[in-house]
Amino acid sequence: MDTVRDWIREAQHIAVLTGAGMSAESGVPTFRDAQTGLWARFNPQDLATESAFRAHPQRVWDWYQFRREAIAQVQPNAGHRALAAFAQRHPERLSLITQNVDGLHQRAGQPQTIALHGSILEDRWLDASRACCQIAAPADGHPPRCATCGNLRRPAVVWFGENLPQAELDAAEAAVGRCDLMLVIGTSGVVYPAAGLALAAHQRGARVVLINPEPTELDAVASRCLRERAAQCLPSLMED
Ligand code: OAD
Repeated sequence: MDTVRDWIREAQHIAVLTGAGMSAESGVPTFRDAQTGLWARFNPQDLATESAFRAHPQRVWDWYQFRREAIAQVQPNAGHRALAAFAQRHPERLSLITQNVDGLHQRAGQPQTIALHGSILEDRWLDASRACCQIAAPADGHPPRCATCGNLRRPAVVWFGENLPQAELDAAEAAVGRCDLMLVIGTSGVVYPAAGLALAAHQRGARVVLINPEPTELDAVASRCLRERAAQCLPSLMED
């Protein structure tokens, strides 16, 4: 830990990449935990693809409503708060990139969070909106829809097989492009292009530190693996 704390103090620019493990201690389930992970309990092909939504809009919509309500009940943890506090003290020295759609980094005080996979707290139109879609508020329903053309509202998250939002991907690559230290927190490192950001940082010669109680796909490029839980170790790690 001391070495990593020194690296943080010395770093010109720190890029942080977080995953579901960052929110685990807030009570948000991860995806691939063998027992409690969402993908251990639900088939992602039935719930996190556009074709699944078109085939079963109510089932998918209700599942996201269930997750939204669960996220509304939880709070950012000490790890979220430690990153936000560091960023407020050193606004030029840290960029935060997240795969999480739960908004907990933003609620902890980091509105500049680069949300690669969108936000579960927002919706958007499934198909390109038409004039009719703009006129009146969507008709209620599971999901809400345009009363005229039936265009559906969908969660504003990235589903499997979909591209990441370009502006966020560009911002993330720019942050990795100028970092000399990358903290990779609470991700299994199996989903691309997000995991590729850690490889890119390593290839550029930046130090890569993994914070994860378990081994991950990215261990091979790590300068240090801290087998720690995010909310446990970040408060002391991010202290000045
Ligand atoms: P995963 O569920 O794949 O991985 C979570 C990681 O967090 C695991 O490696 C755990 O060991 C670790 N972990 C668990 N508790 C932790 C804690 N308290 N502190 C630190 N680490 C902890 O979740 P992601 O890697 O985020 O994408 O998954 C990546 C993407 O796959 C998600 O954004 C989502 C999912 O499908 C989309 O939906 C597009």
